[in-house]
Amino acid sequence: MRDLLPGIVVVEVAGEDDWAGVLLPEEAAGLSPRAVDGRRREYTAGRVCARRALGQVGIHGQPVVTGPSRAPVWPPGVTGSITHTKGYCAVAVGRVPDVRAVGIDAERRTVLPANIVAAICLPEEIAWCAERPDEPWWPALHFSAKETVFKMWSPIMGTWLDFHEARLTVDPLGNTFVAEILPEKLAESPGAPASFRGRFAVEPDLIRTAGYVEW
Ligand SMILES: CC(C)(COP(=O)(O)OP(=O)(O)OC[C@H]1O[C@@H](n2cnc3c(N)ncnc32)[C@H](O)[C@@H]1OP(=O)(O)O)[C@@H](O)C(=O)NCCC(=O)NCCS
Repeated sequence: MRDLLPGIVVVEVAGEDDWAGVLLPEEAAGLSPRAVDGRRREYTAGRVCARRALGQVGIHGQPVVTGPSRAPVWPPGVTGSITHTKGYCAVAVGRVPDVRAVGIDAERRTVLPANIVAAICLPEEIAWCAERPDEPWWPALHFSAKETVFKMWSPIMGTWLDFHEARLTVDPLGNTFVAEILPEKLAESPGAPASFRGRFAVEPDLIRTAGYVEW
C-alpha cells in the first residue's frame, strides 16, 4: 500500500507473525468470543499493524478499539484505515493536521458475479467495464475503490454512503480514480466533499486501492 499514498501517511503491511500477534485487552474485547480463526487472525494483524503505524507518529501503547459503526477508533489527532483480505493486511495512518481522512482497501482479483456487479456499479460503470472484456476484474476494482471511498467518507461524515451514491471514473493508464458523490446525496450531506481521489494497483492476485483527503 506504501506505493499508493504520499509520505505524510504512514503505511504498515502485515508480516507473517502479525496474524498471530498479541492484542491489547481493550482490543481483544472488540472481538467476539465466537470469532472464527480467520476473523481472529485478520483482526489481530490489523491491530498489530495499527499500533506499529501509530508508533511511527509517536503514539505508543494505545489500543485501537472498534467504534459503534465498526470503524476503528483512532487516538486523538490521528486518522487511519485498516484493510484485510486473505493473506494480506495493511494499515494507513496520518496526523490530523496533515490528513483529514485516509482510506485503503485490498481485494483478491476475482471476477464478480453479475448480481454483485449490479449492486456495486452504476449502469455507466458497468458499461465501462464491459468495454474491457479481456480484463474481467474491473468490477472488483470498482468494488475496492468504492470501499476505499466509504472509509474516507465515514469518518468525515459519520453517515452511510451507498455504492450507487458515488460515480467512479477510472484512469486505467494513470492508475487513478475519482469518485463523484451524486447530487442527491450531496444535497442531504452538508459539508461533504463532492469527490474523492485515489490510486490503485492491480497485481496477479490482488487489487489494492487507496486515497486520502487533506484539510
Ligand atoms: C466497512 C467496509 C467498507 C469494509 O470493507 P471490507 O472489504 O468488508 O473489509 P476490509 O477488510 O477492507 O476492511 C475491514 C475494516 O474496515 C474498517 N471499517 C469498518 N467499518 C468502517 C467504517 N464505517 N469506516 C471506516 N472503516 C471501517 C475496520 O477497521 C475493518 O476491520 P476490523 O473489523 O478488523 O477493524 C464494508 O464492509 C462496507 O460496509 N461497505 C459498504 C459501504 C460502502 O462500501 N459503500 C460504498 C460507497 S461508494
